Amino acid sequence: MPDLSKAFADLVAARRSLRAFLPEAVDEATMQRVFDTALRAPSNCNTQPWQTHVASGDAIETLRREMPRQFMEGKLSMDFPYDGVYHGVYKERQYGSAQALYDSVGITREDKAARHEQFMRNFTFFDAPHVAFLFLPEPFGLREAADLGMYAQTLMLAMTANGLGSCPQTALGFQADLVRETLGVDATNKLMFGISFGHPDPDAPVNACTTDRAALTDVVHFHG
Ligand SMILES: Cc1cc2nc3c(=O)[nH]c(=O)nc-3n(C[C@H](O)[C@H](O)[C@H](O)COP(=O)(O)O)c2cc1C
Repeated sequence: MPDLSKAFADLVAARRSLRAFLPEAVDEATMQRVFDTALRAPSNCNTQPWQTHVASGDAIETLRREMPRQFMEGKLSMDFPYDGVYHGVYKERQYGSAQALYDSVGITREDKAARHEQFMRNFTFFDAPHVAFLFLPEPFGLREAADLGMYAQTLMLAMTANGLGSCPQTALGFQADLVRETLGVDATNKLMFGISFGHPDPDAPVNACTTDRAALTDVVHFHG
């Protein structure tokens, strides 16, 4: 068994949420390799409760046009409630990640219009040429959603390892009906979130955004 420890730590550290992409499409061989690698994600009883729909070309352009428009019209359809409430340290971390993002592009706390504009960039996929929508088939629930999360991280690490950038986006789950209709997805597949991906723009200030993490002792507790 090769020593993968350093390679793995480097890979995990190299993945960050990137929010500016070059227009060039990912080549077919890389696309296949990335999604094939992610199939090895673990899941409860190896049920692999995920369905992934990747939009590129005409499909992503339709969504890039319709998503911001319908969002502004208030046409929302969420398969999973958007009701996370953060308090205490969780609130602080949420605030810290938003601040890191706005600092990277020079948006101040008071500049509500600029914040809104940055938020709206979610719905144009940060100019990415591809987006992967992650669905949970019915009747799966919370336990299988954890499997879907493991799949998502495996997929994003595979992207990083293949020189691609990605951004997981809850915001892409706000218009599930539109996504299903555009991509011809069956109503029994429930949309959890999307991942914009492609070749990252190395010169975009937003891609310099980094976030910190809690100390090991704050979140991991060794016993015995
Ligand atoms: C499930 C999930 C949903 C997220 N949704 C969004 C989103 O809608 N828009 C966005 O810009 N970032 C989103 N993020 C990115 C987080 O803000 C980011 O992962 C966090 O701040 C840590 O930064 P890092 O990914 O660069 O390590 C999401 C991340 C996850 C895991």
